[in-house]
Order: sequence, then C-alpha cells, then structure tokens
Amino acid sequence: MLTTALIGCGSRGSGHASLLKESKSLKCIAVCDIDAERAKACAEKIGVECYTDYKELMKRDDLDTVVIVTDTKTHCEIAMEAVRNGKHFIVEKPLGRSISEAAKLVEEAEKAGIKGMVCYQLRFAPFCEGIKKYCDVIDPVQILISHPRGMMKPQFLNPDPFCGMHDVISHHIDLASFFMGREPTAVYATFRRNTYTDTGAVDNISVCIEYGEGDSVRSANIISSMGGAGIDDLYYVIGAKGYVCAPNRRELLVKKPNSEKPEREELPPAGGDTTSLLYDHFARYVQEPAGSVEERATLKHGLNSLMISLATLESQKTGKKIKLSEFLEASR
Ligand SMILES: NC(=O)c1ccc[n+]([C@@H]2O[C@H](COP(=O)([O-])OP(=O)(O)OC[C@H]3O[C@@H](n4cnc5c(N)ncnc54)[C@H](O)[C@@H]3O)[C@@H](O)[C@H]2O)c1
Repeated sequence: MLTTALIGCGSRGSGHASLLKESKSLKCIAVCDIDAERAKACAEKIGVECYTDYKELMKRDDLDTVVIVTDTKTHCEIAMEAVRNGKHFIVEKPLGRSISEAAKLVEEAEKAGIKGMVCYQLRFAPFCEGIKKYCDVIDPVQILISHPRGMMKPQFLNPDPFCGMHDVISHHIDLASFFMGREPTAVYATFRRNTYTDTGAVDNISVCIEYGEGDSVRSANIISSMGGAGIDDLYYVIGAKGYVCAPNRRELLVKKPNSEKPEREELPPAGGDTTSLLYDHFARYVQEPAGSVEERATLKHGLNSLMISLATLESQKTGKKIKLSEFLEASR
C-alpha cells in the first residue's frame, strides 16, 4: 500500500480525510494545514501526525505520495515541491490558475518521472464510465451537459476566477473532453453575476466547446447555475452512429449502432464519493508499469481543462470565440 499525506484540511480536505481513512490503496500517515487548529483537528479525526509546513512534511522518506487539497492558487507551487521531493501526487481541480504554471508543472513532473492526477472524480462515477463506454462506439458529435447546482459555499461566493460556477463547471468541462475523446479547438462562453447572490460571483454560465475544424466540427454545450437546485442533471451524447444519455445517474438510455430502438441499462450504484475510486486508479497508475494503466484524469487532462476554463473568461471578456491554439501560444 502506498503511503500518503493530506495537504489542506478545509472543507473538501476534511472529506478527503474521511475517504483516506477508509482507502484500501492509500495509507494516510500525516495531514498538513497552515491553520494549526485545522490541521490538529483533522489529524485527531483520523489518528495521524500533523504538520503546518508542507515543505517539512515532504522531507519524510516514508512518504510515497501526497494529496493536495489547498486553495487553487497554491496547487502548482505545492505540486512542484512534491516533484522536487520525488512524491507522486493527486491535486484537486482545477490544476492551477494559469496555463504557464500548470504547463511547467506537467513538464517538470514528466522529466522527473513523477505521476500526477487531478481530482476529477466524476470520470470514475459509474454513470460517466457507462457513457464513455458507448462514446467509443457511437462517434460523438454533440454533447449536452446541464448541472443546475444550487447555492455554493461562502468561500466560493466572490468575483475571483475559479470561484462561483466557474469553479464547479471545471468538472463538466473535463467530462465533455473525456466523452468526446478529442482535442478541444475553440471555446465560446457567456456568464452572469449577481442573479442569485449579490457577491459578484459567477452564478450562471454557458459554455460551448468545439472539437475539430470546419465541416467536421463537433461540439459540447454546458450550462450550470446556482439556480434550479433540485432539477436533475442532464448528460446527453449524440453521435453519428447512435446516442447515450444518463437522464438521471441511475440508468443509461442507449441507442447502439444499427439498432432500431433505444435500450435502458441499469447502472451499478455510485456508492458515495467516487474520489476513493480515483485513489485506487492513482495507486495502480503509480505502481504498475508505464503504459499498462489507462491515462485518466492525468496532469495533461487537467491542463486541457484549465485551458478551456481560462478561455471561457477570455471569451466572456471579449465577446468572441477563442481559438485554443492561439490562446495557448499567447498564455505560455
Ligand atoms: N473535486 C471536487 O469535487 C471538489 C469539491 C470542492 C472543492 N474542490 C477543490 O478543493 C480545493 C479546496 O477547496 P476547499 O473548499 O476545501 O477550500 P477551503 O478554503 O475550505 O480549504 C483550503 C485549506 O487549505 C489550507 N491551505 C492554504 N494554503 C496552504 C498551504 N500553503 N499549506 C497547507 N495548507 C494550506 C487552508 O488553510 C484551508 O484549510 C479547491 O481547489 C477546490 O476547487 C474540489
């Protein structure tokens, strides 16, 4: 079993702590937070040592990996320290705040042979795995994802990038590329602030991601909002050879290639937070020979999703469709 330490014991970190305590793949031996009280409370909850300085923690020889769950602005800096100390890592989404810092991290991790994953745990949810299985045969052309989330926690209610719905939609942006299985080429987005709160946070957002060019373009449309709590999410993938959707997360409706009618398919129960499934995958990714474990929620996927997220901000600012090749060049 790989050893690990949790860095960041806030609201999401406390969820990770409970999951790590039960994990069969990662053995948590320490936690760390700059807030000493928080670190102590979290350490006591799961019975491990506590630190307030992540650099001290990373010096431990008996530590194989770290799980980084601090505020987004510190993700890349802490992950770089993990790379320097030879620790494989899981980092919370989004990977970072700028393309340049995230691209540098991806490059340095690769050079050092360090494996990293971004905590896009929905990629491991049974309904997403079910959709993905059929994406491979229906040849996706259009994707529609709707996530009427409801009100966010206070720490995300401010106008900064990666707060409000801009933080949440990171998951759906990532899923769209996961389902499409192609490189994104352009992004168009609009969003509004102050519809449901007066905090300046983005409280509803609409994004169109394009894959490919000209007549062969494919697209994903994502809407998400703090309004509409209680409405089911929508996940539709319409392909050249059929379709698949998860109108709720408990079953799939699939029209397979060459079949006349759609069929319903029951899904295995999700079983709570699928982050523990991501831990299991991470442990195999780290321990098994290179190339033998599927690349899922890797640093490169995280960089792609970050680039799309940042392009939504640029599109909202300029009112234009953002070509990702040009955007990437200008942002490095
Ligand atoms: N994957 C998901 O579904 C999901 C859900 C919620 C949040 N998140 C992500 O998790 C991250 C944390 O969110 P949160 O809601 O827990 O925020 P939070 O503000 O509640 O917690 C962040 C914690 O990190 C600590 N911290 C900050 N800098 C540190 C440092 N240098 N060393 C050690 N500790 C440090 C803070 O003291 C705080 O306790 C964010 O990036 C967020 O986007 C992901």
